[in-house]
Amino acid sequence: MIKFLNLGLQPLANSYLKKKKLSIKEKKFKLEIAFDKKNYLVSIVNTVPKEKMFNNTYPYKSSESKTMQKSFKDLTAKIKKYFKPKFIIEIGSNDGVFLKNFHKKLVVGVEPCDNLAKLTRIKNYITYSEYWSLKLAKKITKNKKADLIYSTNTLSHIKNLNEIFVAINFSLSDNGVLILEDPSLLKCIENVAYDQFYCEHIYVFSTIALKNILDKHDLEIFDIHNTTTHGGSNRYYIKKKTNNMYKIKDSVKNEIKKELKFGLHKITTYKKFSKKVKKSKKKLINIFQKLKKKKLKIIGYGATAKSCTVLNYCKIGNNFIDYFYDTTSYKVNKYLPGSKILIKKYKKLNKKNTDVAFLGAWNFKDEIFKKEKNFIKDGGKFIMHVPNPRLIG
Ligand code: TYD
Repeated sequence: MIKFLNLGLQPLANSYLKKKKLSIKEKKFKLEIAFDKKNYLVSIVNTVPKEKMFNNTYPYKSSESKTMQKSFKDLTAKIKKYFKPKFIIEIGSNDGVFLKNFHKKLVVGVEPCDNLAKLTRIKNYITYSEYWSLKLAKKITKNKKADLIYSTNTLSHIKNLNEIFVAINFSLSDNGVLILEDPSLLKCIENVAYDQFYCEHIYVFSTIALKNILDKHDLEIFDIHNTTTHGGSNRYYIKKKTNNMYKIKDSVKNEIKKELKFGLHKITTYKKFSKKVKKSKKKLINIFQKLKKKKLKIIGYGATAKSCTVLNYCKIGNNFIDYFYDTTSYKVNKYLPGSKILIKKYKKLNKKNTDVAFLGAWNFKDEIFKKEKNFIKDGGKFIMHVPNPRLIG
């Protein structure tokens, strides 16, 4: 493994702080990113035990964004049309944003964060609050194998990929389909979106890296769709190598070609990226300093895990941002880890009391700009740091 980026000491990204805990010293870890020349995997170097991150206080709910709701709904329509599954397993079912589009008898959820698992269990969807493992796979598929296994934004959070794929291979029927969706490394590097790296995102996958892992488990990708979620993701359609029901589409060859052309198999690409990240930091700080000199009122918009990486790496706190707005009830009245900026209940932006908003949730730019069109019309601006820090509005 070759380390290529050091994002400094970081707290756990989703550990929002209560007021009474503000004075307690937070646990921090060194966030460094590395490239494995052998299998092309890009991963964080120091990992945090999963129980510290995914437990019954997990704050992120997929259903809270219209963009995500629509993305899952569109996908379910396609799944019903093309694959007509009779038994689905979802690994990382969160609050049920995908599950709820299927009949209860058709689908089983796996969600180790019990606060989230409860939300689907209460609606009578079978949901196991456990980490995905071979043991659990055996329990779920004792009587029949799954003809569809779905997992989005979950694989990148799991350290032991081998165990995951052994369990997937065990529980998938011979003609079954595995659909995985995770942020695309190509988009992350292209967009200088270094905030895709935080404690929970152990990996950001390229197709060439995923292909190497799948190979070991006799699985192969037969189609890839580029999606816009999380700043650019890939949705991989995967089958057992012995399954001849699906032809391998050109999309697979094309995506690999794009990645190789960009150099995702070469360390030099990552070293260049690292230089761009350092420049991005300087430029972002510079923007904040200029705005502060003008005595403008700056707030944050969307207290994301991604923001945690940016704020702590660039040492941005109350020196620049007064508070954040966020729609997630769990985050409201808490403080962002590390930077300790207060998160307030979301209110529509108003030029009378805000001049500029730092867009922590930049991956929802379109949805947010639509919501805040009056603020923008009145001259309000956003700071967006990807692909390069700038003011927009
Ligand atoms: P998310 O995109 O999942 O980012 P991360 O994985 O980095 O945490 O989180 C989006 C956050 O932004 C979430 O806390 C909700 C918030 N948000 C708003 O406050 N307003 C909005 O209009 C949208 C779309 C999101």
